[in-house]
Amino acid sequence: ITSALGRRSIVLVGMMGAGKSTIGRRLAARLQLPFSDADTEIETAHRMTIPEIFQNYGEPYFRDGEARVIARILEGRPVVLATGGGAFMREETRNRIRDKAVSIWLKADVDIIMKRVKRRADRPLLQTEDPVGTVSRLLEAREPVYQTADLIILSRDVPHDRIVEECIDAL
Ligand code: S3P
Repeated sequence: ITSALGRRSIVLVGMMGAGKSTIGRRLAARLQLPFSDADTEIETAHRMTIPEIFQNYGEPYFRDGEARVIARILEGRPVVLATGGGAFMREETRNRIRDKAVSIWLKADVDIIMKRVKRRADRPLLQTEDPVGTVSRLLEAREPVYQTADLIILSRDVPHDRIVEECIDAL
């Protein structure tokens, strides 16, 4: 499998709560590739959490940093990279990913997403009166773009390792 992939990275895209970080980490272990998480890299670079970056500098600033971090990671050795849910929406980032990596959309529905993000207060985009409505609208706007990923894997309530195996089979 690694030979078929050549020197390409694997980039997981999709909504928050789809399992990009969890699946990505396990997929990396299975493929013996390093794992990278764009959100974590941004937090480390700024010595701030994502909600703090949003609050102090605003979303456009975060998006620029996110694009730079992903570009830098993709310049390096092949990795499995989990991206934040909005990263793939930027055309420049999509083009880079297309150039350097195989992309996998971890596709999750609103119910799964809500279940997974309920436990976490660290998504600034969900600090609204109506998080379900917000997620539905984001999903509707983003799905046509996520759809252009190379591979699509359904993220649902089955053991993580099963999703990982489906990714490997699809690669
Ligand atoms: C965002 C998703 C988050 C994080 C930021 C914005 C989004 O990443 O980048 O809160 O726009 O969907 P996860 O998808 O890892 O939660």
